[in-house]
Amino acid sequence: MSKSVYIKTYGCQMNEHDTQRMFGMLAPMDFISVNDPEEADLILLNTCSVRANPENKVYSFLGALRPLKERKPGLIIGVAGCVAQQVGKSLLKRAPHVDFVLGPDNLFRLPEFVEDASHGKRGCYTDWQTWEGSVSEFVPEVWQEQGRVEGLRGYIAITKGCNNYCSYCIVPHTRGREVSRSPEGILREARSMIKNGAKEIWLLGQNVNSYQVGEDYGFYELLDELSHLEGLLRLRFTSPHPRDWNDRLSDLMAARPVLCNYVHLPFQAGSDTILMVMRRKHSIADYLRKIDYLRRVIPTVEISTDLIVGFPGETDEDFTCTLQVLEEVRFSQVFPFKYSVRPGTRAESLEDDVPRKVKEERLAQVISLQESINKKAQDDLVGSQQTVLLEDTNKRKEGFYNGRTDGFRAITVAGDGLSIGALVHVCVTGCKGHWLHAEKL
Ligand code: 5AD
Ligand code: SF4
Repeated sequence: MSKSVYIKTYGCQMNEHDTQRMFGMLAPMDFISVNDPEEADLILLNTCSVRANPENKVYSFLGALRPLKERKPGLIIGVAGCVAQQVGKSLLKRAPHVDFVLGPDNLFRLPEFVEDASHGKRGCYTDWQTWEGSVSEFVPEVWQEQGRVEGLRGYIAITKGCNNYCSYCIVPHTRGREVSRSPEGILREARSMIKNGAKEIWLLGQNVNSYQVGEDYGFYELLDELSHLEGLLRLRFTSPHPRDWNDRLSDLMAARPVLCNYVHLPFQAGSDTILMVMRRKHSIADYLRKIDYLRRVIPTVEISTDLIVGFPGETDEDFTCTLQVLEEVRFSQVFPFKYSVRPGTRAESLEDDVPRKVKEERLAQVISLQESINKKAQDDLVGSQQTVLLEDTNKRKEGFYNGRTDGFRAITVAGDGLSIGALVHVCVTGCKGHWLHAEKL
């Protein structure tokens, strides 16, 4: 008889992807996915600890599950992801209704831990793996053959972990040292995804462009190879680090139509003083020079970014530099965050001296400036021609299709003979909110 699983996912695309991998591992054990925790035999929380906020959400959801476990003693509850790695064994004490705690490095052993839990064994599995031999793929071969596709998209983790140790970031502590997968494994997975209907592939990594296998094979070579795959319409990746971005990569993006003209390049702060304390290992001038080259070879490229406001020691002048970068680069999208102290990071020892109110004001300024920049950018796109991958029908307007431009803007398209999965040329006729409207050419 089949059993049911409910997975609650917090955080980044890598976590979303890990959740898909969990479903992939549980399906052969006869688990089917349900949308209501009340109906589940197994509940997994795939957690995020990048800031205090998502971490706190995990604890409140866990608290809410307690009465459920009392009513259903056979229910298995597992906590996976970055909070699991960060908090470890103490979570089992703090939450006696949790059966197991599973760090990202042990994800591939999920079936074993679920089985153990069904026999009443509680445990904490957060030891680091060595990732040697076949395990170095950190994606079991069966998944490479499965080629899981969500809609028209396939996500491939090409690296795991991060070696950067930016001073504010907990990720290297929760996901460990960086490991790059073999190109053969990645290509095999990409081919099976395309066979299973993927039109667009996203390469994922905490610092995706530091991908390196041996001396002569890096991110450039991998993109180059993948961009020749037959049947693939679009190739995207997230997130690259500005320090590891270079003009060769910009040239490759310009030369290969399959490589979308979109890059998410976090700059975090506009002031060199702050960047230095953040240990970002590049200056803002380096960043702007790389963007400048990218825009020179691809004038229509769209760039999005992450930034942090209120990092320790950030003065009004430092913050003004951040606003100046927004004005200069004119990003298509900005993900701004208030600095949040994370345990075990280098910045933890710095005084969190920017008052909460100031952080909030700075955040509000970033959001308002970006809104005006984006409003203008959307207006300027009216009348332009775009290439759109149609991903779904528009549920509100019959005959319309939703998709994304090459630059990753949401767009709805009208016209004859449209179908999901088609790459069409359109003319933008208007915009409303964050949506562009277009007609097929
Ligand atoms: N506080 C606030 N934002 C953070 N980020 C990472 N760590 C922190 C932190 N301690 C942000 C960065 C990163 C994004 C994923 O989360 O901007 O790019
Ligand atoms: Fe964190 Fe920096 Fe690594 Fe990104 S590159 S995951 S911000 S340490």
